[in-house]
Amino acid sequence: MLHPFTSFAAANPGQKIKLALVGTGSRGSSLWGKTILTEFKDVCEFVGLCDINPGRLAYVKSYMGVTCPTFTNIDVMLKEVKADYIIVTTVDATHDEMIVKSLNAGFNVITEKPMTTDEDKCRKILEAEKKSGKKVTVAFNYRHSVHAMQLKELLAANRVGKITSVDFNWYLNVHHGADYFRRWHGRMNKGGSLWVHKATHHFDLLNWWLNSEPVEVSAYGSLEHYGKNNAFRGTKCRGCEHKPNCKFHWDIMANKQNVNLYVNNEQHDGYIRDGCVWSNEIDIFDKMSAQIKYANGVLVNYSLTTYSPYEGWQIAFNGMKGRIETWEDIPYLQKTKVDEEKRHAIEMSNADDAIKGEVNEILAWDNFGKDQEVYTTPKIRGGHGGGDIRMQKRIFVDPNDNPHHVMAGTRDGAMSILIGIAARKSIALNRPVKISELTDLVPKANRHEV
Ligand SMILES: NC(=O)c1ccc[n+]([C@@H]2O[C@H](COP(=O)([O-])OP(=O)(O)OC[C@H]3O[C@@H](n4cnc5c(N)ncnc54)[C@H](O)[C@@H]3O)[C@@H](O)[C@H]2O)c1
Repeated sequence: MLHPFTSFAAANPGQKIKLALVGTGSRGSSLWGKTILTEFKDVCEFVGLCDINPGRLAYVKSYMGVTCPTFTNIDVMLKEVKADYIIVTTVDATHDEMIVKSLNAGFNVITEKPMTTDEDKCRKILEAEKKSGKKVTVAFNYRHSVHAMQLKELLAANRVGKITSVDFNWYLNVHHGADYFRRWHGRMNKGGSLWVHKATHHFDLLNWWLNSEPVEVSAYGSLEHYGKNNAFRGTKCRGCEHKPNCKFHWDIMANKQNVNLYVNNEQHDGYIRDGCVWSNEIDIFDKMSAQIKYANGVLVNYSLTTYSPYEGWQIAFNGMKGRIETWEDIPYLQKTKVDEEKRHAIEMSNADDAIKGEVNEILAWDNFGKDQEVYTTPKIRGGHGGGDIRMQKRIFVDPNDNPHHVMAGTRDGAMSILIGIAARKSIALNRPVKISELTDLVPKANRHEV
């Protein structure tokens, strides 16, 4: 299938791609705002910005240095702008509204992950896309990191034969992990829990790496560390009486961009960015574990931890002929020490420099073999392992550069969130949940079979 930008480039030679963005928060103003204007200014221009918070909207317009019109209502923006793409970077639970309205108004869409937060919204997006004849691109940046791509190449080349099972563990440290409990991500009705908000990345990687789709999920999870699990709580870190005793106290005032985006605009919508991690309103899980059965027979063991002393992940693919293992930032496996407090800020930055002398290693072991074979890629710390900028380059500059079907659409968006939604249901019902209970999509053993 043609990527939508292919037809755009052919039909409009020499013209810039016109972008309108809804959701001028952190991600919207940075990767999908300022970065586009820095890295892709020759091929892209903004024709509209929208956010329900007029203060944040005005600040981001000046921060980005654009002159395009601004809107506090998506319906008005969709009526007034002539855009090639609507970029959706709002709160997760509102993605469906932005995507469906944009498609119905005749626009192609680029949406941040997760595509949406429940199965009904998911169905509505799939139907709207089909009816509109327009296209939704889901921004799965991690696929585009050089490390993830090298792993994909080894698996696609059958390096250790047919894969039969996978062990996958993701650890969020107490700085990054806690940040999900300070704001809307901690509310089930806003982010669908970390099963969806965060793990959509991990489930998408699994689906892509395994080239298959999930059929059944069995999961456990609970909230045992954050939220109600503390003797004291406040409303926000600023001015909190518990500051001297609270290890999770976070000074939002130390970062100018956070002050400009959030603190200065609280009066418009009451959005508190440095909310209390001990709030009684937090209703998501902070430890999660799942088993996922794939249509091609692969079994996956997955876990997500939100209060680890270090941040990193590790994965092992067991194949008929051997085993592939890799990891990022597991302290006892890597040579350079990481500052855990600064780590998240660097990852969210757009720096694309390889860390001098540092590599990610992928180990392939052959059954009955004597030693492992070591594959290496340069380690890139910023922009989600270099995934952010590579993804945008493919979207805006090289739409035909699509190795291993790395560009993702609504089917990929759906299959990744459906694992998390099934996990939530499995916990609630205390039984395994089939993907077919949530969608009419029939999981494919091979993602690219017709
Ligand atoms: N791919 C990644 O690695 C990555 C990283 C960070 C964030 N994200 C995604 O980006 C999105 C935004 O995250 P963020 O951290 O910037 O959040 P944020 O809270 O900083 O920004 C969200 C913005 O959406 C606005 N908004 C909410 N409802 C709206 C509505 N109905 N109409 C218009 N605007 C509305 C809010 O006012 C806010 O400005 C989320 O979906 C998140 O999952 C992805």
